[in-house]
Amino acid sequence: MIGNLNHVAIAVPDLNAAILQYQNVFGAFVTSPQDLPEHGVRIAVVNLSNTKIELITPLGEDSPIQKFLKTHPQGGIHHLCYEVPDIKAALQQLQAAGLQVIGDGTPKLGYQEKPVLFFNPKDALGVLIELEEVRTAEVQGPLKHISPLHTAYKSSIHSLEGVEGVEVDVETDFRQLTPPDNMEGN
Ligand code: CO
Repeated sequence: MIGNLNHVAIAVPDLNAAILQYQNVFGAFVTSPQDLPEHGVRIAVVNLSNTKIELITPLGEDSPIQKFLKTHPQGGIHHLCYEVPDIKAALQQLQAAGLQVIGDGTPKLGYQEKPVLFFNPKDALGVLIELEEVRTAEVQGPLKHISPLHTAYKSSIHSLEGVEGVEVDVETDFRQLTPPDNMEGN
């Protein structure tokens, strides 16, 4: 059902210090901070080539991340956000599976003005889950031939040619599409 990982949100006590670390130490591009009063957070976004990291800090006294920072004073991973093509269908499916939506199930507009919902961590391996409706979300099909893909990818992308069920463009060298800054030296 879920598609791509849209972002990982990290709650931080000091947003400016967090931005400086991601810019200067990790060498990433970070957007300017923005207030989201509806969500009780101030946010800056780290753009990576395959996903985003949202740095969030409390905005106002009733911020939902105030309590989180009390138990994690240095900050910590606050939630994961997955893309879904139809958030109402996803809500029905998760509720039918026993997951508890936070709030009354009416999607709010998130950072990018797209509908979002949050689900209680107690039902999801202790992780707060956010779903974001992205109409073009590419939903992963059932996992097929995962081990040949994994081992073949490690040795050489070209060795995927002819591997049954692997739908990748073998002519694409993904390493060339990754900015040098994001390479891990391999
Ligand atoms: Co989020």
